[in-house]
Formats: sequence, C-alpha cells, structure tokens
Amino acid sequence: MTKITETAHTFDVAELSLADSGQKRIEWADREMPVLRGLRERFEVERPLQGVRIAACLHVTTETANLMRTLHAAGAEVAVCASNPLSTQDDTAAALVDKYDIPCFAIRGEDRDTYYGHIRTVLKSSPHITMDDGADLVSTVHRECGELAEKIVGGTEETTTGVIRLRAMANDGALKYPIIAVNDAYTKHLFDNRYGTGQSTIDGILRATNLLLAGRRFVVCGYGWCGRGIALRAKGMGAQVIVTETSPLRALEAAMDGHAVMPLKKAAQIGDVFVTATGNTTVIGREEFSVMKDGAILANAGHFNVEIDLEALSELCHSRRSVRPSVEEFVLDGERSLYLIGEGRLVNLAAAEGHPAAVMDMSFANQALCVQRLWCERTAFEPKVYAVPQDIDDEVASLKLAAMGLELDTLTPEQEQYLNSWRLGT
Ligand code: ADE
Repeated sequence: MTKITETAHTFDVAELSLADSGQKRIEWADREMPVLRGLRERFEVERPLQGVRIAACLHVTTETANLMRTLHAAGAEVAVCASNPLSTQDDTAAALVDKYDIPCFAIRGEDRDTYYGHIRTVLKSSPHITMDDGADLVSTVHRECGELAEKIVGGTEETTTGVIRLRAMANDGALKYPIIAVNDAYTKHLFDNRYGTGQSTIDGILRATNLLLAGRRFVVCGYGWCGRGIALRAKGMGAQVIVTETSPLRALEAAMDGHAVMPLKKAAQIGDVFVTATGNTTVIGREEFSVMKDGAILANAGHFNVEIDLEALSELCHSRRSVRPSVEEFVLDGERSLYLIGEGRLVNLAAAEGHPAAVMDMSFANQALCVQRLWCERTAFEPKVYAVPQDIDDEVASLKLAAMGLELDTLTPEQEQYLNSWRLGT
C-alpha cells in the first residue's frame, strides 16, 4: 500500500505501520556501528551541519537509516530516496518517517518512473549537498535541473560505478560541483567492497536458493575488490571458484590466489553458479546462455542490472515463472532451465539485507565526515572528483580499531629516524 501524506514533510513509503519493526532493526544495526554512533554523539553537541539541506540517494537499509540519524543529529535537514528500485527495506523507510522524522521516498519494487519521481522529489528540497550511490541523483541534477547545481556546495559518492560515471562527467567538463569519492577511501573499498560484498552476495544467493556451495563450480566475472571478496568467501565454503577477467594483472592475481582462470565462454559450459561483479554491461549474454548447463544459477553483484543480458534471456526462453521468492526460472530450448536471482539486480540487497552493519559503519563514517568537510571548507573545493582526505580515512580506521578493542604498536624514535634516512643500508 502506498501512502502519500502531506504533513510537515511529504513522504512516500509502502506502509507506515511497519515503523516499529523498522526501528527495532535500525537499533540492532546501530549496535554494530560504533564509529558512526560516536560521530552522532559528537555531532549532537557540535551541530556542524546546522540548517544544511542534504538530498540522499542511497539504498534504504537499516545502516543508511543510522547515517541519516547521524546527519540529522548534526543539524542537517535530510531527505532520502532509494538508489535502486529493489533494495529498499520498507520497514526501515517507514521508521525513518515515523520514528526519526526524516522524509523518505522509497518503496521496494518501485517502477522506473516512481524511482526517478522520488529522485526529483528529494531534489525539490534545493539541497546544499548531495549523497549518491551510483550517481543517478547527480546525473539527474545535471540533466534536468542545472539551476540547482549552482547552489550545491558538493556531493559524495558511495560506489565504484558512481565514481566511474562522475569521473567521466568531470573529464567531459560537465561536472558542475565537487564530489568526494567515498568509495575510494581505504576504509571503504578494502572492507565494504571486499568483505561486505563478499559475504552479502553469498548471503543473497543462499537465502534465495538454499544451495550447497561445496563442490559447486562458482564463476565470478570480474576480480575487482567485490569479485575478490565473493571468490574468497565462495572458496571458503568449498566451491571451486573460476574467475573470468579482461585485465591481465587481475587475472594473474586471481590465479595466484588459487582460483581457476578462463574465458567466460569456457566457464559458461561448466559453471553451476555465475556472479557478475564487473560494473560493465552485457557480461553474460546470449552466447553464454546458449551453452550453460541445465540448472545454472545467475546472479549480479554489480550496481546496475545491466551485467546479465535480461533482454536476450527473455528472448531465448520459451516460458518463465517465479519458483521461489527472488528466483525466476527461464525455460530455454529443449530441457534446460536457467535461474535468475533478484531480477538481475544487486543480489545482496535484492535477496538479502546488503552489507552487514559492521562494515557499513566505516563506509558511512566516511560519508558523514566527508559531508562535514565539504560543508565546513566549502570554498576550498572546485568542480572535480576528490579523493577522501587522508586524515578522514585514518580517523575512521583508528576509531574502528579502538571500537574493536585493538591496539597498535608505535615506532621508536630510532625506527622513525631509520625510515627517514637513506644513508643506512647493508
Ligand atoms: N550497500 C551495500 N550494502 C548496503 C547496506 N547495508 N546499506 C546501504 N548501502 C549498502
């Protein structure tokens, strides 16, 4: 059920009565997010974002809710919409509105028009800052509301695909305001992309299929940080991992990490499970579908639903039907069926709950600190894509270590001197 209510704020969520359950899950996630919680406590006192309007386009999950609470505590006026039509947790969306007074525009399974309608709605707040995951918000600003861009101080981008799009915009001279590429912080991609995607992708596949991975041939297309994590976890569960790559360096790394490496055309004939994590389009297509074994499982872990060629799959199949929640069967020629998870959308969010909170803790602490930096030093930034400032990355790492109760050694003065000297050798 969709409710659109005109109150102090407008909102569009599936069902407000889910708010109690959403709040409990948000609080549960918060227990696993000590770094973000610490920032929230600091922000409640310092109010560094007092009156700042933030439009956020993120996966509407319990972890995102805790980020929104943190920005709210800093004094910001936040409005959030979904960054993927199938990743919204409806109870979280309801709780944002009903329990935390944060306008939310997101309904799980919304169609494309509603998805973009929600993006346009959050932009109506005339934001000072945008927060994006995949760059649909920033690209809408640039394509449809150029005048808004003049007033936007800066933005942040959460994911690899979004950063690639934004760098392309910057290279074309089209980017009108500065963006900090949160994805590129070490405390983001080394953990979120690798261990977060690694675990949550397997989680999504297992929740959808209840498959035994041990002994299965598990094909991972792409060996970036996400692919590395997925392969690592699949191997840990006893699967025989096959990696397909276009980069010689990454292929070599996959081989030395102990995985089989071969072209997708070959892997297609023997794989049991296929996961795309390339960020590219039409990775698995007609040619591969035509040779896959009966029963092969298809899943995508990349940001957009373009990696598995859904059009070709629909054209090739004689019939299709839903066989389990999040699993669709495509009956091809003769006797073969292929099984697609989560409509080819991000499997970890479509069929599970996304990355665990403990890893989003670091990603979203980076987000909160980058927003603060963009706002407080707004005259220092130009319309470019910036790396996360090193001191922010270091602060997030130190806070996480402290929260985990882990301590470091410190260099002695002699060691400091040794490291800074070129005179000492053999
Ligand atoms: N991206 C991947 N997992 C996520 C999560 N749990 N919350 C928000 N964004 C995510």
